[in-house]
Amino acid sequence: MGKKNKEKVILFCDGKKCCKYNAEVKECFKDLVKEAGLKDTVSVQKMKCQGLCKQAPIICIHKNECVGKVSAKDAKRLFEKHIA
Ligand code: FES
Repeated sequence: MGKKNKEKVILFCDGKKCCKYNAEVKECFKDLVKEAGLKDTVSVQKMKCQGLCKQAPIICIHKNECVGKVSAKDAKRLFEKHIA
């Protein structure tokens, strides 16, 4: 935490609605990062409500690839596609 130049970033919406649904996915991403040994290159951060609450939970990768209704399964797929 606190390091500025990690190469990749996974952003979690920290708004009320998403928070209700994203606990599992968040853990899943953290585990994936750890397992892949990428803790130094990938940061997991919070972001504000994206106005897409109907799609909760919202995850963005690299700030531009945003996905809604993310499940633990999607997390794995997204991780493999964009991060690993
Ligand atoms: S709370 Fe996540 S998009 Fe609004």
